[in-house]
Formats: sequence, structure tokens, C-alpha cells
Amino acid sequence: MKLSDNKATMSFANGAPSIELPIYHGNIGPDVIDIRKLYAQTGMFTYDPGFLSTASCQSAITYIDGDKGELLHRGYPIEQLATQCDYLDTCYLLLNGDLPNATERNDFHKLVINHTMVNEQMQFFLRGFRRDAHPMAVLTGLVGALSAFYHDSTDINNPEHRRIAAIRLIAKMPTLVAMAYKYGMGQPYMYPRNELSYAGNFLRMMFGTPCEDYKVNPVIEKAMDRIFILHADHEQNASTSTVRLCGSSGTNPFAAIAAGVACLWGPAHGGANEACLNMLEEIQANGGVAKVGQFMEQVKDKNSGVKLMGFGHRVYKNYDPRAKLMQETCNEVLAALGLENDPLFKLAKQLEKIALEDDYFVQRKLYPNVDFYSGIVQRAIGIPVSLFTGIFALARTVGWIAQLNEMLADPEYKIGRPRQLFSGNVKRDIKPIDQR
Ligand code: SDX
Repeated sequence: MKLSDNKATMSFANGAPSIELPIYHGNIGPDVIDIRKLYAQTGMFTYDPGFLSTASCQSAITYIDGDKGELLHRGYPIEQLATQCDYLDTCYLLLNGDLPNATERNDFHKLVINHTMVNEQMQFFLRGFRRDAHPMAVLTGLVGALSAFYHDSTDINNPEHRRIAAIRLIAKMPTLVAMAYKYGMGQPYMYPRNELSYAGNFLRMMFGTPCEDYKVNPVIEKAMDRIFILHADHEQNASTSTVRLCGSSGTNPFAAIAAGVACLWGPAHGGANEACLNMLEEIQANGGVAKVGQFMEQVKDKNSGVKLMGFGHRVYKNYDPRAKLMQETCNEVLAALGLENDPLFKLAKQLEKIALEDDYFVQRKLYPNVDFYSGIVQRAIGIPVSLFTGIFALARTVGWIAQLNEMLADPEYKIGRPRQLFSGNVKRDIKPIDQR
């Protein structure tokens, strides 16, 4: 952060003395006005519900240019990471600041692959759930429960503990997500296999059974790995901000990540991929492409409460670059599986076409986001709709950890404690019950 020679002067119509606030430059992106001394100098707070104009921290991990539709992880464009690297390379990059060389890559992959098993007691934790529990409810519990097993890596002020906890979480999330799936299916859990890739291991734990060998389909393996890359990190989104705020109290990393899982579940955030696929299936059931016009009218009618799930974004006011890459992956997977004529994919493309030509969407700069196509490709792979957000949480775990560790490594960090504009009752006395 560089102090700019520019300053912000805040003056008040009521004659209160004006104040000067420093302005800082980042390396790219908007400057910031430092308001940390505002309350002390004016007795006033800023007011920004939803944080539309608030930078909550300084970060060097991910940069999004919403107008250009650009996404960089440690400076590398998502398009290059998704086509030239794999998910574990991206994890190394997010955690350490640059891509690994051959030795570092080999060591990191081995380290992660050798931490994929979970404590045998974890299977008994699952038994407390109904078989039809939503996988995100199960996952929120399982991730939080990890803190009960790893007392040797819960001191967040110890960099070595933070490093070990990061590896354990990245390594064990696929195992936990697959266990949540198998528990719902009533099938036995599959143990991880160290000779498989990260994505291949996950696919085998999901779809393999003890009855026969599971052969990883390389096209699906590559698609799964790309889906992980596309969901790895995304600046200060709701769940990442949740992890930072939760971690700022000094709680252990497993508890902080569990908070991120819980936040991601919401349909306005990571739950949108599940909501988007349910929306496509509902339109398909009610007449498909022929009914798209009628559906779009509902979306544009404010009173309907209907949104085009998978569209719109707080930051992107252009096409989400991840959506383009996800659409490509959709094409590859559907072709590999002989599903080129998948009706939902055709419907989604028709919806996108109509929306991008419709004034309502153009005026509001609403474009497809990462969730618009991810459900279609996951459904084609055989992943149940209810598990889509679990896959998102699996992939985003590295982003949450990298952001949490960045905050904890900042000597200036404090526990997060926002204030409020109070609109409730002023002080009053309790009346005896017969006078209320
Ligand atoms: C993710 O933050 C991140 O980076 C998140 C994420 C990540 O990787 O972490 O990118 C992942 O969460 C992607 C977003 C997934 N959510 C959805 O697809 C759900 C549908 N989208 C909307 O709920 C909405 O677009 C949000 C929540 C994503 C963004 O909401 P904002 O920024 O608060 O914008 P808004 O609701 O103020 O919308 C502006 C206008 C409104 O209309 P007006 O009041 O101006 O008339 O656009 C309308 C909204 O009603 N609008 C939509 C719409 N999204 C916004 N109208 C119809 N369909 C939509 N999807």
C-alpha cells in the first residue's frame, strides 16, 4: 500500500471543522480513503451495509477487474491457470505467492496426497445425520469437527500450525465431500488412493465402490480439476469475508473454514449453482425453450421475487471470465459423454442469449457468473445437484485459508468489530405488567 500525495478533505455543512483523510494506492485497482480515524475525529461512523464501497483489508492474493471481466490470482490470469496449470499448482500459488518449480510442485503434490485420509472416528460423526440430510449441513459439521482431531495445528499465531492446517484442509476436503455423498447414498466410503491425482482421487472416492476397480476418465478428471481451479479464490466475497472475520477472533482454522462453508451455502452466493440447475430443470419441465420468454417476464417483474440464478455479480459488470471457461468445459464434457444435445445446456445457452440482448439485463450489466454453467457440467459428470455447493466449498477452501493466513500474518490485524446506525428505542424504564 502506497500513501498517495492526494488526500480526502471531509467538510460539514453544519460548520463542524473539516478533516483530512489519507488516500492510499494499491498496485492496480481503486485507491482507498483511510477512515480509521474518522470516529475519533468526528464522532461519526461511515454507513455501508453490504460493503458496496468498503475495502475491508489489504490483500495481494486475487484481483478482479469487474468492468473488464478480468480475474488474476497473484497476477496470473484465470484463463492461463485454467489451461496451463492444475488445481494443486493453483493452491501452491495462492498459499505461497508464486507457481512452484518442478521440485516444489512434486513435494507439494506428495504432501497433499499423503494427508487425504481423515481420522477413522469421523465416520461415526456422520451417523448422527439423517441419510437425506443436505450435504452442506453435513459438511459444515464435518469441517468444524476437524478441530477436534488436530490439536497440534490449531494455534493460528504459529506459522507452522497454519501451514499444516492448510495442507490438512486442502487434502481432506475431497474425502469429506465424498463421505457426505456416500453417506447419503447408503454406500460404503472409499479410502483415498495415493497413486491418483487430486481430481482423480476425488472422482474415485465419489463414484467408485469396493465391488470393482474404478477407472478415472481423463476428460472428466481434467474437467473436475478445472472446476476446482475456477472456484479456488475470489477476493473478499461473502464467505471469504466470513472466514476473515471469524478467524480474527483467534479461533482455530478449522472453525473459521466451517464458517465459510456455512456462508457459501446461501443461494445468493455458492448455493446459486444448485439454485440455477433447479431453475433450468423447472423451465424444462414447464415447456423448455418455448417458455423462456414467459420466464424472463417473471424475472423482470420485481414482485415475482424470481431471479435468473447464475446471473449477475456484485463486482463483475461484464462477463465473469470463469463462466466462459466453464462453458468450454461444459462443451468438452458433454461431447466426451455423447450428451451434446443435453436439453439443459441448450436451454441455458438460449437463456443467456436472450438475457444478453434484453434491456433489463443490459442496463443492469447482468452477465452469467461462475454458477451459470457449473451445474450443467457437474450434473453431466454425475454429481447430484445438492452436492454442487459442496464441490464449490471443496475448491474454495484453499482461497479461504490463503486469505485467513494473509490476515493473520499482518502484524496490524485486529479482531473485526463493525459498528451500527442505531434505529431502536431510546432509554426507557420497564412498566409493571399491569401497566403495559
Ligand atoms: C457467487 O462475491 C463473489 O465474488 C461471489 C462469487 C465467488 O466466487 O465467491 O463470485 C460466487 O456468489 C456468484 C453469484 C451467484 N449468485 C447468483 O447467481 C444469484 C443471482 N444473482 C443475484 O442474486 C445478484 O446478482 C448477486 C447477489 C449476485 C449480486 O447482487 P448485488 O450486487 O447486490 O446486485 P443487486 O441485487 O443490487 O442487483 C442490481 C439490480 C437489481 O435490480 P434494481 O433494483 O436495480 O432494479 O440487478 C437486479 C436486481 O434486482 N438483479 C437481478 C439479478 N441479479 C441482480 N435480476 C434478475 N436476476 C438476477 N440474477
